[in-house]
Amino acid sequence: MECEANLVLTGFMGTGKSSFGRFVAVAMGRPFVDTDYLIEEREGRTIPEIFAESGEVYFRQMERQLCREFTRPAGLVIATGGGMLLPEENQTLMAQGGVIICLWTEREQLLALLAEDESRPLLARPDWRQEVTRLLEQRRVAYQGFPYHVDTTIGQIDIVVQRILDIWKTALPAWQREHCLEEHLL
Ligand code: S3P
Repeated sequence: MECEANLVLTGFMGTGKSSFGRFVAVAMGRPFVDTDYLIEEREGRTIPEIFAESGEVYFRQMERQLCREFTRPAGLVIATGGGMLLPEENQTLMAQGGVIICLWTEREQLLALLAEDESRPLLARPDWRQEVTRLLEQRRVAYQGFPYHVDTTIGQIDIVVQRILDIWKTALPAWQREHCLEEHLL
C-alpha cells in the first residue's frame, strides 16, 4: 500500500479551499482534486441543480461516498466542499487518508467574497448575509475542532500557500506514525 498522505483542505465557503489548493498542489507537484467538481462531473449536473432536483440530503450522501473513497493515502491535494467534513464520520474517514487543514477567513471578507455568487445553493436567498452569519455560528465549533488551521483573510497567495506547507510539514510525521505502520512505507 502506498503511504503518501493526502493534504485535505476544509473550511467555510469562500475561504479559498479550491484556489489555494490548486497552488499548493502545484508547489508540491501533486494532483489536485476538488470534491464539488468531482460530484458535478459524476452527476453531469451542477451543485445548484443537484440541490434543486435531488435535495441536500442526496448531495450529502455523495459527499459521504467520496469520503469513503479517499480513506486511502494517495498523494493528493483535496479541496472539499465546506460542509463535507462537518459530520464526524466523514472527518474520521478523510483523516485516515491524510492530514486535514481547516482554512478560516474573517466574516467581513467572506461576505465581500460571497456577494453575488450563484454557485452556492445554501446562499441562494435574499437574506444570504444573515445566513452566512448563522451558518458560521452553527459550524464554528466543528471548524475549530480541526487540529490545524490557516487564516486566509490576508489572501496573499504565496503567504497562504507557505503557511499551509509549513503546517503540513509539522503535521506529517505524526500522521505517518499513526498510519504508516510498516517502516518501509515511511
Ligand atoms: C457547501 C459548500 C459548497 C458546496 C455546497 C455546500 C457547504 O462548497 O459543497 O454548496 O455546505 O458549505 P464550497 O465550500 O467550495 O463553496
